[in-house]
Amino acid sequence: MLRNIVLSSMLALAFGAGAMQISSPNGNLILKVDVDATGTPVYSLGYKGRTLVKDSKMGLVADDVRFTDGFKVTGADSATVDNTWTPVWGEYASIRDHYNELAVKMEAQNPKRDMTLRFRVFDDGLGFRYELGYQDNVNYMTLRQENTEFNFDADHTLFCIPGDYNTDEYLWSETKFSGLKDALAKYPGHNDGENISGTVVQTPLLLKTDDGVYVSLHEAAVDGYPCYLMDVDTEKYSFKSHIIPDKLGVGAYLQLPVNTPWRTLIVSDDARDILASQMILNLNEPCKYEDTSWIKPMKFIGVWWEMFIGTHRTWAYSDDYRAKPGVTDYSKIPSNGRHPANTANVMKYIDFAAKHNIPGVLVEGWNQGWEDWGSYRKNRQFLFDKPYPDFDIDSLTAYARSKGVQLIMHHETSANAADYERQLDRAFAYMKEKGYNSVKTGYVGQIIPRSERHASQWMVEHVRHVAERAADFKIMVDSHEAPRPTGLCRTYPNWLAQESARGGEYEAMGVNPPSHTCILPFTRLKGGPMDYTPGLFETKLSTYGEGRDFQAGTTLARQLALYLTMPSPLQMACDLPENYERFPDAFAFIEEVPVDWKDSRYLEAEPNRYIVVARQDKNSDNWYMGGIANEDGHTSTVPLSFLEKGRKYEAVIYADAPDAHYKTNPQAYVISRKKVDSKTRLKLTAAPGGGYAVAFHPLPKK
Ligand code: NOJ
Ligand code: CA
Repeated sequence: MLRNIVLSSMLALAFGAGAMQISSPNGNLILKVDVDATGTPVYSLGYKGRTLVKDSKMGLVADDVRFTDGFKVTGADSATVDNTWTPVWGEYASIRDHYNELAVKMEAQNPKRDMTLRFRVFDDGLGFRYELGYQDNVNYMTLRQENTEFNFDADHTLFCIPGDYNTDEYLWSETKFSGLKDALAKYPGHNDGENISGTVVQTPLLLKTDDGVYVSLHEAAVDGYPCYLMDVDTEKYSFKSHIIPDKLGVGAYLQLPVNTPWRTLIVSDDARDILASQMILNLNEPCKYEDTSWIKPMKFIGVWWEMFIGTHRTWAYSDDYRAKPGVTDYSKIPSNGRHPANTANVMKYIDFAAKHNIPGVLVEGWNQGWEDWGSYRKNRQFLFDKPYPDFDIDSLTAYARSKGVQLIMHHETSANAADYERQLDRAFAYMKEKGYNSVKTGYVGQIIPRSERHASQWMVEHVRHVAERAADFKIMVDSHEAPRPTGLCRTYPNWLAQESARGGEYEAMGVNPPSHTCILPFTRLKGGPMDYTPGLFETKLSTYGEGRDFQAGTTLARQLALYLTMPSPLQMACDLPENYERFPDAFAFIEEVPVDWKDSRYLEAEPNRYIVVARQDKNSDNWYMGGIANEDGHTSTVPLSFLEKGRKYEAVIYADAPDAHYKTNPQAYVISRKKVDSKTRLKLTAAPGGGYAVAFHPLPKK
């Protein structure tokens, strides 16, 4: 139901009588908006009687025109909206979108400019954006910067990664504002990165006040506009937007009328609410597609991990880097003998998937172009309709179909995004011809040919275009190295997952500590699901080429929990089939865990420490629970009050053994069974770097 109310008090305030104000539906958040003595728009945000965000300026700076100062308020509208909508997939079967809205109209003269600032205050946070209508003398606008401030009032704790124009694949720091410079100085450079001078961090980021208020700062519905970073003033405890420019320094090429993305603050004094918040999805536009019946969440395995670990497998068919797709006759050059995307090996993966009820098999390294891979080479190009000679695509498609398995396509673009766009329709048509319904895309390296940035305007438009065009072919998308997500998966629900953070692949370098996945759900996941690639069973690894052995930052049981704490409608089981065959009783959990949910309950949470969540399967009455801990471990006594009252369940518990430890004893786990009901309190322990997963199967009603 949609309701519009105009508050009469608002109208009085709107014409110069001081700050305008609205509160969240529950009254906990109070937003105030005003213009200061210079006519600069200013907002502030209060939470439960305290100031959370002090007066913070807003403004847009373009070459052609400035929307910064000289403004007078000319009017204001307010409304209350209370809707419930049904996502195609996700953590909840239905989502309530409930907020109070204030739209403040302002005008400046010489030259005449007008804009509307639209604020939505939800119980779980604030979103606001700039709306520019037609202006008298401006049609196109070259945006240089956005002056949006978020001014806090004390030396709060931050959970953040360094600002980078090109990559999000960093570990998180936990630091005070005052320690941020030192924390950032400790970061090693990133191969694919473009670190920026100054004290700059990326969003989403999390902030925690000393009195226990959590704020997740990000943006929503970034489309046709660049993502932003935050310039941090560590003495004034404030953030200022830092629009990601192209190499010419331009933030965005815009045509009026235009709305900016929503600037978002998810707020609560209970960390669990930050995880449960659906505000970013609520701020995105509804689904654009009429028919979504072809969008099918699924699990998959892949010819993938072999290329990361000490097995020395390669994406490339040969070792001849001079081989050029479309030029070289690949049937005439010898294979290097280490190419796993070959027909016989893929058939083994298909057999395993069919036997264990895993719907999808991803195959990387199937197409021509990998010999020339590496950002140091010129004219990087893959062909997306040219398989290597040892990958018999037609017989594999037929074999997969006969086994009820779906092959998943891979398009590594090597960041030659412009070339990918040119090939796109041909690539998608080829997929359809060969029976594929989903693609994993990738953008490793610096974006060519114009050296765009990974999250600048051009790339933001590119990846959205790829998702939208894929829908014309009924293709689902999982993009890697794309701009960090901002909830567009609501509008384009065939865009099921993205990477856009440091994923499980870094386990192959031994550099993901257990705490990493205790932060991602508070930050990166607020924009949308992550293809983190959980399911690592063989935790003793050696990096490709380095001959160095090490333990991954996880226990085996924790990997099962990640299916709950890192939910994704396209969810991988990353390890090799032979490693799963060694632990069939633990793999049984991966076999049965769903990827689409009716309901979710965050039971315990503290960023960088632990997360415990229970979720109900969308397609049955089963519940599942997952808990993870950082290096310190964590014991919980969890009330199972989420279970249906009066019903008995069998709980199958996959837990770290008492002597498990991610460093010294990661594969020690115990599987036990218990009869439970909604009154049971279950005591569970995650070892250091460990976790647990529980499946609750309802017993027949008597
Ligand atoms: C990086 C991606 O994150 C990874 O999943 C993929 O296998 C490689 N690029 C190659 O495309
Ligand atoms: Ca990656």
